[in-house]
Amino acid sequence: MGEMAQKISKVDHEALLKVLNTAFAEEWLAYYQYWIGAQVAKGPMRTSVIADFLENGEEELKHAQWLSDRIIQLGGTPVINPNQWESVAQCRYEEPSKDYIMNLLQQNLVAERCAIARYQGICDMTFGKDYDTFRMAAKILKEELEHEQEVTDFIDDIKSGVEFGANLQS
Ligand SMILES: [Fe+2]
Ligand SMILES: [Fe+2]
Repeated sequence: MGEMAQKISKVDHEALLKVLNTAFAEEWLAYYQYWIGAQVAKGPMRTSVIADFLENGEEELKHAQWLSDRIIQLGGTPVINPNQWESVAQCRYEEPSKDYIMNLLQQNLVAERCAIARYQGICDMTFGKDYDTFRMAAKILKEELEHEQEVTDFIDDIKSGVEFGANLQS
């Protein structure tokens, strides 16, 4: 625990630890969603999409690490039982029961948009009141925005490829 970290943070302590743990649980679910998606994905642009899923997943895990570090510094405890991830998280885990790449991309898009709202919220909460948590949340927000853009680009590219193919046949 960092004594000064707690002292200089002007945000409600309990509320901050609660939202940081919510984000922490969501990062683990996001990591697993990308990782398992990369294992089962089938369909167009599979190699590039899988590489992107694995790369994004690594970044979600890194976010979980940053959140854990900050929670501990603030005197809290990161969720210690994976059984609690789904109940603590507010962004849903999107089970990839359909392995077609477009379904997986759409599910990851939902997850990324929820993550963007989460970090936008943490930035709003800490802006001017807790500089270190703000800096961390803004850094994560930047990467979530990049993830959302990459996922959207894949969806658009695959859609235009499918349309192009349909036009060739007609
Ligand atoms: Fe993340
Ligand atoms: Fe992400």
